[in-house]
Amino acid sequence: MELGIDLGTATTVVSDVRHGILFDEPSVLLLRRDGARRERVLAVGQDAADLVGRAPSGFVPVRPLADGVIVDLETARLYLRAVLHEVGRRAWSPPVRAVIAVPVGSTALENRALLEAAEEAGIRPGTALDGAIAGAVGCGLDPLERRVHLVADIGGGTAEAVAFCFGGVLAQRTSKLAGDEMTLAVGRHLRETHQLHVGEREAEDLKIRAGTEPDGPLVVQGRDAATGRPRLATVQAAEVGEAVRPIVEEVVRTLAACLDDLAPQAIADVLAEGVLVFGGSSQVRGLPEELERALGLPVKLAEQPLTCVADGAARALRNRPLLAAYGRR
Ligand SMILES: Nc1ncnc2c1ncn2[C@@H]1O[C@H](COP(=O)(O)OP(=O)(O)OP(=O)(O)O)[C@@H](O)[C@H]1O
Ligand SMILES: [Mg+2]
Repeated sequence: MELGIDLGTATTVVSDVRHGILFDEPSVLLLRRDGARRERVLAVGQDAADLVGRAPSGFVPVRPLADGVIVDLETARLYLRAVLHEVGRRAWSPPVRAVIAVPVGSTALENRALLEAAEEAGIRPGTALDGAIAGAVGCGLDPLERRVHLVADIGGGTAEAVAFCFGGVLAQRTSKLAGDEMTLAVGRHLRETHQLHVGEREAEDLKIRAGTEPDGPLVVQGRDAATGRPRLATVQAAEVGEAVRPIVEEVVRTLAACLDDLAPQAIADVLAEGVLVFGGSSQVRGLPEELERALGLPVKLAEQPLTCVADGAARALRNRPLLAAYGRR
């Protein structure tokens, strides 16, 4: 089996070279602690996420990644093994070779820890590749070309901007403000403007609907801030755009800083070609328009913003020159 794995803070996506997407679920693991530090995996992915906030005592939901980086080796190993087990039930043919997408700012130490965890989970060999490069490959760009490309991966925990050309990274910037912060901002807006308390799920759902149902007013359910009783509020999609604007502006600054690091000839390439954006939060309301306005660059949205990183990682497995140039072992 040849896999591309996008181990994201919010979502894990696994793509197989021949079968396409095999796993696309929240990055959550449900563990049960049996006495002296023995841990049993009870559920992974959506099954585990459904139990967050509902799990009986003794059951611990854990997120194996924070800001794109594994929290600890043991959890990462358990998580990867559980994901591989799920994937194996859907299409099994060991051994497993894999390219794993990592944050562009990750250190050699962090990558080594991840690859070690992957190896213990049954992946041999595993190669680490910058997620932004993988996403570019998944969208059909060739990072070995003698032309500068600028891409942005706007996920849950981080937003990354990376410029690359001819097998090497020219500039990179990371911001820790991304989709999770957008969700928090939407929750704050509902509290302050509509006097409504909502859970994280409702806030995220509203944030997403504002992009997919831009015309109609959106109805959201929560608790009245004064009485504590359940009630509905009607929200305009444009309000959501306003609420997330400060985070979108931070994404703009991250991209602008990356552009500032480029030489004039490189900037000319980017001006001609534009910037490619992917990751779940690239779809948030108002983002492409704001990027175009603020940067004066054409912005292209990926066709598959949520899965292009895993697809590109899988494709990279069969591209030796690409892995030789960009792989981080
Ligand atoms: N249609 C949408 N509109 C707005 N936001 C969305 C949409 N779909 C998903 N998101 C947001 O995208 C984020 C998840 O994106 P993604 O799966 O790319 O992140 P990740 O790879 O898990 O995280 P990271 O790359 O930061 O480690 C979440 O914050 C989610 O709310
Ligand atoms: Mg990601």
